[in-house]
Amino acid sequence: MAKTIENLEIEYQLAPTKKQKPNPNELGFGRIFTDHMFMMDYTEGIGWHDPRILPYQPITLDPSAKVLHYGQTVFEGLKAYLSQDDKILLFRPEKNMQRMNRSNDRMCIPPIDEKFALEALKSLLRVEKDWIPKAEGTSLYIRPFIISTEPFLGISPSISYHFMITLSPVGAYYKEGINPVKIAVEGEFVRAVKGGTGDAKTGGNYAASLKAQIAAKNRGYSEVLWLDGREKKYIEEVGSMNVFFKIGGEVVTPALNGSILDGITRNSIIELLKYWNVPVVERQISLEEVIQAYNDGKLEEAFGTGTAAVISPIGEFAWEGKKMIINDGKTGDLSKKLYDTLTGIQTGELPDPFGWRVVV
Ligand code: COI
Repeated sequence: MAKTIENLEIEYQLAPTKKQKPNPNELGFGRIFTDHMFMMDYTEGIGWHDPRILPYQPITLDPSAKVLHYGQTVFEGLKAYLSQDDKILLFRPEKNMQRMNRSNDRMCIPPIDEKFALEALKSLLRVEKDWIPKAEGTSLYIRPFIISTEPFLGISPSISYHFMITLSPVGAYYKEGINPVKIAVEGEFVRAVKGGTGDAKTGGNYAASLKAQIAAKNRGYSEVLWLDGREKKYIEEVGSMNVFFKIGGEVVTPALNGSILDGITRNSIIELLKYWNVPVVERQISLEEVIQAYNDGKLEEAFGTGTAAVISPIGEFAWEGKKMIINDGKTGDLSKKLYDTLTGIQTGELPDPFGWRVVV
């Protein structure tokens, strides 16, 4: 008999042995995984059931599982930090659970119980506390995700799913660390179109970005800047980050329009800027406007925001064989202040006037 989640009872199967912890200075991003993972299943007619924490291990899937053929899947990304007084801290985790349900809705995946999913995450973190790295710029990256498992080749929503959470100790997402990255403006391919899945966190968006990303990498750029899918004129986002420009004292970020990911770091940066009385607007902004601002000497800074990328200053944009070097390719004062403040709030080193931190 399947155990449903109503009574919040998570079954624990703990790993008999533990892996060796990695060198905190050589973490990179997303290649090392902890000893345990969380898993629960969904079955039509029953709902979500059998929540369990078990040793990190491969899972078996029927070769005809829907996720393998039609990509019916969603994921999230958030981080845990260890405070000086040894508490596990999360940053606005309820926002990730809410966004996961918005992605679920778009991908016809049954909703999760957001409160329960957060409790499950906290339980997993308590088991894996000694995996949270303490070195500056490191954290425990959390990857909740759902895959459709029904073995059926018909195009229809799956009747069964796995919800899983894995954990990965990480350092900086980009090899540049917090130094400025170089970004290539994508002129041929598009990431998302209005009415598509651009604002859902689903694997296909990222698979669709690979071709352009490889071409950009081969030319020495970290990622691509995506333009809108219709006119290839307006700025949308970078592969793993939302993007901000400081132009003539005002900070501008593309308004959410259905094809841009509603980033939690993006939202936090807007809130922080408002708190500091720095002018900030969410609006449509074209590449042409940014180039004009650059030519007029008004483009002061550019930076990306994301859970994995945190705040990544952008030192260069390249497009159609031309390039602009922003702030001499150096990290701008505002980008640095935002990075220091955001990470200070996240790690518990600074006060949290917004109530964003959640103690596990
Ligand atoms: C995150 O910032 O957590 C993301 O999901 C980006 C990821 C694709 C690395």
